[in-house]
Amino acid sequence: MRGFRIPADEILAELERLRAADAPTHGGHVLSYVYDSGLAELDELAARAIRAVQPVNGLDPTTFPSVAALERDVVSFVREMLGGGGDATERDEIVGNVTSGGTESCLLAVKTARDLWRRVGGVGTPRLLAPVSVHAAFHKAAEYLGLELDLVPVEASGAVDAGRFAARLGPDVALAVVSAPSYPHAALDPVAEIAAAAAEAGVSLHVDACIGGLVLPFWRGDVGELPAWDLRVPGVTSISADLHKFGYAPKGVSVLLHRGRDRHRAQYFATTGWPGYPVVNPTILGSKSAGALAAAWAIIRALGAEGFAELAARCQDATASLAATIDGIEGLRVVGRPVGPLLAVAADDGVAPEARVDPHHWADAARRHGWILQSQPGLAQSDGTRLPATTHLTITPVTAGVLAPLGAGLVAAADEVRGRPSADVTPLLGALAGLAGGDAPLDSATAGAVLARLGLGGTGGGSALPDETAPLLALIEAVPAPLAERLLTELLARLVEPGAR
Ligand SMILES: Cc1ncc(COP(=O)(O)O)c(C=O)c1O
Repeated sequence: MRGFRIPADEILAELERLRAADAPTHGGHVLSYVYDSGLAELDELAARAIRAVQPVNGLDPTTFPSVAALERDVVSFVREMLGGGGDATERDEIVGNVTSGGTESCLLAVKTARDLWRRVGGVGTPRLLAPVSVHAAFHKAAEYLGLELDLVPVEASGAVDAGRFAARLGPDVALAVVSAPSYPHAALDPVAEIAAAAAEAGVSLHVDACIGGLVLPFWRGDVGELPAWDLRVPGVTSISADLHKFGYAPKGVSVLLHRGRDRHRAQYFATTGWPGYPVVNPTILGSKSAGALAAAWAIIRALGAEGFAELAARCQDATASLAATIDGIEGLRVVGRPVGPLLAVAADDGVAPEARVDPHHWADAARRHGWILQSQPGLAQSDGTRLPATTHLTITPVTAGVLAPLGAGLVAAADEVRGRPSADVTPLLGALAGLAGGDAPLDSATAGAVLARLGLGGTGGGSALPDETAPLLALIEAVPAPLAERLLTELLARLVEPGAR
């Protein structure tokens, strides 16, 4: 080959132009999705580590022993963080793998428990028991892996009640799951109480510490230490923690740990039943990058537990400060008692409607001030109660450096929308009735037509995505979930169709 068709510099300049449309990944302006340590040298170290393993195939640690070495070190560090240090015998029994992220760790925790449940005689459809606040990755796991998802309503604080949860345990439950903390409300579920009940019932219990796993070990409770939520709790059979969140690594790295070698081995898929190479995979992917693993490993080497403690303290101080600012905004309230660097903010129903701040309008207004918050729709629970619509904020170490402008932006945004009622979707619902009626799933053309009616999806002169998200959020809250899910699928699928803009 005599050279590239297009010079490398031009290709990379084009990539940079595309990237310019992205939300900023650094600097604390995006309060979800990205986890900025604020340490440029850490990002540089990660980039160099990725480069060093760029051509490696993580599929086969016997051909590429560096992959096994990196994974051993990362598993060992995370095990220590998650209370799996114990004495030598106990520690020896806590084993696991590096996965590609929180979703994969959750999927594999469910697959492992389901297979073990079947092995001890479970027949029929196994149940996955979890608080309604559990991450959607478990909805995905239940759907992919053929379990019935049984969601226990949570209290107004966002945490599940242990007694209520325990009452739903039974022999058909292949896995119970709790969060440390939950993503939607930063609620720390009562891990010890539920673990005791699960152990008594002989049910596996997974702690989803995907977001909290590398900050909660250093989190200071209101009164001393947090209640134990990790492997120190005897009935916890598996736990997950993401290094691409508060491990500050690039996307694609999480850890799933099991209590017991035999449990861990059930995570594996192995086959010699085809004419190719024997396949032995602990994770879902076959061929895979070792890049994020190497980056996470390098970050762990650079920071050590002390470095993580320092960054967690920065997160905790910034979270407390931001929570106080938000509590001081008339018409808004922080939901529950957040444990970890996350906040859910709802309208304060204790004030008159004209003083109330709709969280979805607030998020739209904050965006105009340059702060990108994440909207969470309100949700009806099976007991008839309703979880309020909220705005989610993930706080990272870099937030500490922008507290003043961020606080000012959040206050100004609230002032701009205070008293504005939630978006009225009645006219839209009327317009949709003719198009989206009936029980049959919408085909792509009809879903596209519905989106066009809403001015979305890039069809019928609409833009691909809305400028204001509040009406879309209100619509999601108002229509049956399958319809909302179908329309959102159409919206996202159209984004990546060749020719879309
Ligand atoms: C508690 C929890 N579990 C699971 C996940 C899923 O992780 P990922 O997005 O890395 O797949 C998240 C992501 O935010 C989370 O907060």
